[in-house]
Amino acid sequence: MPTSVRDEELLHRVCREVAPYTMVPQAPLLFTLESALQSIEVGLKGSIVECGTWKGGCSFGMLLAQRYKHGKIIKPVWMFDSFQGLPPAGERDGPSAKAYQRDVDSPYYYDNCTAALGDVLTAIKHFRFSEEECRVVPGWFSDTLPRRTTALEREGIALLRVDADWYDPVRFVLDTLLPHTTADARVILDDYYFWEGCARATHDFLASSDQAYRLRTIGEFAGAWFEKKASELIC
Ligand SMILES: C[S@@+](CC[C@H](N)C(=O)[O-])C[C@H]1O[C@@H](n2cnc3c(N)ncnc32)[C@H](O)[C@@H]1O
Repeated sequence: MPTSVRDEELLHRVCREVAPYTMVPQAPLLFTLESALQSIEVGLKGSIVECGTWKGGCSFGMLLAQRYKHGKIIKPVWMFDSFQGLPPAGERDGPSAKAYQRDVDSPYYYDNCTAALGDVLTAIKHFRFSEEECRVVPGWFSDTLPRRTTALEREGIALLRVDADWYDPVRFVLDTLLPHTTADARVILDDYYFWEGCARATHDFLASSDQAYRLRTIGEFAGAWFEKKASELIC
């Protein structure tokens, strides 16, 4: 974790710059940025992956933090999103998820969390990220993730940010991508305390795993995370 005043200033600057592109509050956003820098500092192999990017603010932040800290981008960021919003909530997502999708006039509806792909590509140009640095993969995870697993397996995933709200996408991402995360990689579960489906998917995934991963809390219940600790790996 960064401790220097310079790093703190740098990360707060990044938060300000990406604020128009993210709905993630400051504490979990800072944790995300710190995790990206930490993955470089401890020398983890692999890229960074965000599943559920919306307008891209967290992904952009993880790239900007690298640029400001190291003068260049060391770890590319894969951005996976439908750019068509959330799929319909299911039974395992609970009544609050269904109520959210019915309440289309709510200020928090955000058009069912829909970001326009064109706007995201414009923002990428604004930040001057190359296609190699910022890899946008539009489409439903069930279509896009299996097609990228060969590349992700080859590169490895040093940090996986899961921000897809409902049970099915969160479970699909964990099942599909956890095998490609490198030892000591962090997995951030943005919606663990907010949406029932994310919590259920996390618990079901962990129960199905033969590893004793320990869940940890970000700030005051602003999200959860776990680490793929090398000592817990069975070779
Ligand atoms: C809460 S938003 C993500 C917020 C974002 N990380 C930020 O920084 O503000 C959830 C995103 O997950 C995406 N999503 C959910 N399920 C998906 C699926 N099965 N396939 C692709 N994208 C999905 C939605 O399109 C939406 O953009």
